[in-house]
Amino acid sequence: GTAQIGVTGLAVMGRNLARNFARNGFTVAVHNRTAAKTRALVEEFGDEGTFVPAESAEEFVAALERPRRLVIMVKAGDPTDAVIEEFAPLLEEGDVIIDGGNAHFADTRRREKDLRERGIHFVGTGISGGEEGALHGPSIMPGGSAESYATLGPMLEKIAAKAPDGTPTVAHMGPDGAGHFVKMVHNGIEYADMQLIAEAYHLLRSVAGYSPAQIAETFRTWNTGRLDSYLIEITAEVLAHTDADTGKPFVDVVTDQAEQKGTGRWTVQIALDLGVPVSGIAEAVFARSLSGHADLRAASRGLPGPTPRPLSDEEASRFADQVEQALYASKIVSYTQGFHQIQAGSDAYDWNIDLGSVAAIWRAGCIIRAAFLDRIRAAYDTQRDLPSLLSDKEFASEIGSAQDDWRDVVATAAHQGVPTPGFSAALAYYDALRADRLPAALTQAQRDFFGAHTYRRVDREGSFHTLWGGDRSEVGTD
Ligand code: 6PG
Repeated sequence: GTAQIGVTGLAVMGRNLARNFARNGFTVAVHNRTAAKTRALVEEFGDEGTFVPAESAEEFVAALERPRRLVIMVKAGDPTDAVIEEFAPLLEEGDVIIDGGNAHFADTRRREKDLRERGIHFVGTGISGGEEGALHGPSIMPGGSAESYATLGPMLEKIAAKAPDGTPTVAHMGPDGAGHFVKMVHNGIEYADMQLIAEAYHLLRSVAGYSPAQIAETFRTWNTGRLDSYLIEITAEVLAHTDADTGKPFVDVVTDQAEQKGTGRWTVQIALDLGVPVSGIAEAVFARSLSGHADLRAASRGLPGPTPRPLSDEEASRFADQVEQALYASKIVSYTQGFHQIQAGSDAYDWNIDLGSVAAIWRAGCIIRAAFLDRIRAAYDTQRDLPSLLSDKEFASEIGSAQDDWRDVVATAAHQGVPTPGFSAALAYYDALRADRLPAALTQAQRDFFGAHTYRRVDREGSFHTLWGGDRSEVGTD
């Protein structure tokens, strides 16, 4: 074979990824279950580079130079297993299968182990950036063996996006499922970012009384500062858009029920298993599910709320500035939680993930790309053992300056009856982490009372139980 890489699964992501490889000078074998798609790709985009169309699995495998590198771009779940089982028997020792779908990292671990035993490298790879990213440069998060990255890395570096300092946004995240785990948390953070932006919009609209067009302007201004990010940029675009049919702001004609395909939910499920508090991400997932409960919402519509208090123009503009502070502070918390989860996953599965490198490859190409990520990279690069982003001096000082406004915004939201689960959860996390003493002491005492679950003391080593049903004397339980 002559193709340096093959892509099977030519829906829009697979097709664009194949084109990206071809445009970067690689010979690309292309294959799809229904051959019409393969032919269409070559007909439409054949002049962008060198494609080798293959009708059958055998033809596809034969088209690849050794060690074969074969990218699977099919729907995550059973289709991925089916495609692996179709190709694996045709491969030889040392060949590499790359799964570029949004797979669950536990599936990736299972597949990697199985294929490793058959002598085949399996590289579960997170790819972010949507259709445009796949074509012009995504952020790429490969897992799998270091050996497979040695042959694959240089190719991925060519097709990846480039950070502002010119470095490609791809790095080996760690063995087996590390890449898909990092991608999962990327998506969890994406959900949180989107939720925080939605809350900012809701407040500017309902409390400040801004129109969508005015909010678009506000976001455009924010996008020139520390909030500079792809998601803020596209939010401004969406809010400035007018529906052609009705002449109304586009956002007003879209049904207010947000859907999800599962990666945000996985992030929270796994965080629960690992015991990592990702409250911001959880609230974002729950906000989407709440929005989808149309019947529940209809049945609750008559419940009483506060009387709205309109703001003067001056108050509205001051409030908008405060919302920027609240959004930024909450964003720091989301990333703190997300990076905590990656660290916890890395510890639990022995992946040895470099958090600075995660932040580095999220600086461009992916959906959460933002100026902010270069600062996270710098924080982790200079302080390898940073216990939390909040313990970085710069972030701590920024959140410190934002906190008064952040509190005002959350209080105003409560007063005016605007739900801000993301801002509020982030603030609660911040206040809980910085507290000297938490009421968890009381929780432990209650557990000891009703279930003899024991407690530790602040002044002595050991475990203790109080005889609550008896004379309330204390006994040691070690
Ligand atoms: C990306 C995105 C992508 C994800 C969509 C939709 O990084 O390019 O995260 O992988 O599929 O954002 O996710 P939901 O349908 O769950 O909102």
